[in-house]
Amino acid sequence: MKRAPLKKACVIGWPIEHSRSPAIHGYWLKRYAIDGSYDKRAVPPEEIESFLSSLAAEGLAGCNVTVPHKEAAFRLAAVREASAEAVGAANTLWLDEAGRLCAANTDTYGYMTYLATRAEDWSRRTAPVSILGAGGAARAIVYGFLEAGVTEIRVFNRSAERAEALARDFGPRVKALPWEQRSRASTEAAVLVNTTSVGLKGAGSLEMDFTDFHPDCIVSDIVYVPLETGLIRDARRHGLRTVDGLGMLLHQAVPGFEKWFGVRPEVTAELYDLIAADIEAA
Ligand code: ATR
Repeated sequence: MKRAPLKKACVIGWPIEHSRSPAIHGYWLKRYAIDGSYDKRAVPPEEIESFLSSLAAEGLAGCNVTVPHKEAAFRLAAVREASAEAVGAANTLWLDEAGRLCAANTDTYGYMTYLATRAEDWSRRTAPVSILGAGGAARAIVYGFLEAGVTEIRVFNRSAERAEALARDFGPRVKALPWEQRSRASTEAAVLVNTTSVGLKGAGSLEMDFTDFHPDCIVSDIVYVPLETGLIRDARRHGLRTVDGLGMLLHQAVPGFEKWFGVRPEVTAELYDLIAADIEAA
């Protein structure tokens, strides 16, 4: 007999207070009238292993994973999707029929889906893609562009070694360039993405010079607090199309919800406005 699906999930992190995942999944649980719950759990680093081994006993179908547990979640999973393998970190876990812990990294899906929603024609022009940053988020997005068939990805990172390591891991289509060249070497880019934390809560500036950029370049930021980052504002002033970071957060939540609750949820304008209002109020 097939077991009834479990209807409990959560997000784990340390700290976890500021996670917006409960608001996102709570919206969908209500919208689809699912008898389920999604809460947040503060799990200290020394307890991650025992927490993950007790998911079934806790009645949890799975969880989202945030800082600092993404690498541990990847390591402890028995089955890993290609997305998690590419990044070396997982943000979505679930138990399969056999009770094995499965891991995915849905940042790739979240980023690429929102980009396609907001700028359907992003790949029309054959041109490089520029990535600022070389952390976990950068890896997820580089993987997405490689899968989409982009022939050249330029990675700019403050510390050169990290960009070089990323380029080595992903092969010859990915090139590490000096941080100082992030504007000059991006003028022909089809898409430029900020994956660094610069601009978060208004702190710091990427000091991009958009003067000679191709008019069809799309500038996107994965930082979503504030919704309009300094980068997005500067790009808009230069007449460039922009893609904010909130959509990636919403879309990356879709696969997890479907695994745990059995319904593929929709990222609606209402959900976007709900979370945007929460960010603006904070
Ligand atoms: P994530 O997993 O979310 O990508 P991360 O691994 O901590 O986070 O990576 C943060 C990224 O932001 C890195 O590329 C980091 O650059 P370094 O590798 O040189 O540390 C980048 N970053 C953070 N603060 C920065 C700053 N003030 N200027 C430029 N880059 C910065």
